[in-house]
Amino acid sequence: MDKIYTVGDLKRYLKDRYNSTRIGFVPTMGYLHEGHCSLIERAKSENDLVVTSVFVNPSQFGPGEDFETYPRDLIGDISLAKEAGTDLFFHPSPQEMYPGNCSTFVEIKGDIVNHLCGSSRPGHFKGVTTVVAKLLNIVKPNNVYFGAKDAQQVAVIKKMVKELFFDLNIIECPTVRELDGLAKSSRNTNLAPEERIQAPLIYKALSRVEGEFKKGLHSTDALLEILKDSLEEITLGEVDYGDILDKETFTKTDEIKNDALVAVAVKFKNARLIDNITLKSE
Ligand code: PAJ
Repeated sequence: MDKIYTVGDLKRYLKDRYNSTRIGFVPTMGYLHEGHCSLIERAKSENDLVVTSVFVNPSQFGPGEDFETYPRDLIGDISLAKEAGTDLFFHPSPQEMYPGNCSTFVEIKGDIVNHLCGSSRPGHFKGVTTVVAKLLNIVKPNNVYFGAKDAQQVAVIKKMVKELFFDLNIIECPTVRELDGLAKSSRNTNLAPEERIQAPLIYKALSRVEGEFKKGLHSTDALLEILKDSLEEITLGEVDYGDILDKETFTKTDEIKNDALVAVAVKFKNARLIDNITLKSE
């Protein structure tokens, strides 16, 4: 596995050596776990060359959020990325990604960012779309891999890619979970032991909603009530949001007729966790 730290070197590497190869790209913020590795493995199976980036992107963290305490482990990341099938590990510095007095941003507006993390973390998706657009322009991949755990992020990026005519495919990969159902996340490491015991209640709540939906309950308000009641079992964290939205439009509907996203965010002391499931309309 090769390692590269500057945009110029990466561009030269890709141009000189892999001009006609299929490039799969997995953008991450590091502290890699099995969720990230599942994306890298999938990319490996579908491309000739896999680029994995590790960049904790400052512009997607708001004031008072966890940019400073976001877990970092470059040595561990290099070894996990390599093991999962990465050919090229890209780890740029903030100066490399935001040179000089950067004042160009990519921002999506509208329903897609009016709820969930879009409303609870103002400016977050502007940071995400900006850095992902930069990375896509640098790596020029054929296929880019994202996790369903960040469902709103995938939707936002798909929309950006479509509207800005990026010539690539977005591949959404399933959420990888711990045995007790907790979605794997770099931030899980910042949970206190007693918070870690409560954290799987997030998925338990989502699963309960899915169970009731499968039994025939399709009223959004009734399902939201069940979600709210279940999340009350979490006493060590504060529920940031729990919502059910149409997966296509990201708006609320009275009855669930199309695929719907049930999404939750819970703030523990040093870790804000998100998770979601999709209610599939047959
Ligand atoms: P990060 O949180 O490191 O996640 C990188 C990718 O891994 C994302 O596509 C995310 O959805 C996926 N992922 C995380 N946990 C997962 C899990 N348990 N199962 C499957 N996939 C999982 O998301 C970001 O970084 C950043 O916002 C980024 C897109 C890199 C832009 O900075």
